[in-house]
Amino acid sequence: MDLYATTRSEKYFKDPLEFKPERWLRESKEVHPFSHLQFGFGPRMCVGRRVAELEMYVLMCKLLQRFRFEYHHEPVELRQKFFSVPDKPVKIKFVDRS
Ligand code: HEM
Repeated sequence: MDLYATTRSEKYFKDPLEFKPERWLRESKEVHPFSHLQFGFGPRMCVGRRVAELEMYVLMCKLLQRFRFEYHHEPVELRQKFFSVPDKPVKIKFVDRS
């Protein structure tokens, strides 16, 4: 399944290229459940999904509690390899909140 195409399609996402994290909130009805299957679906879907998602949430929460992120460089574009990768180093500055 071509996740790159479905997640950028007007058919499944309103303003697909806009950064709108609120579209992913549980109460949002905007996202079609089969428009993004990064972990597969069905009896052979990823068994590590919950662990992987939990680790990402915990990491992001801990980083955001401690740091503010700043970015002062050229916009980062996507390059398609086997995975999507940034086209340049992502030089995010971590500013300590304390
Ligand atoms: C961001 C992290 C991850 C992504 C995007 C991911 C994605 C996937 C995908 C797409 C599949 C194939 C599903 C299918 O065939 O329909 C898969 C399978 C699998 N994943 Fe993950 N995975 C992630 C993390 C993990 C972690 C942390 C573990 C273990 C703790 C794990 C264990 C597995 C296993 C064992 C399978 C094979 C399941 C089967 O064939 O029955 N994955 N994963």
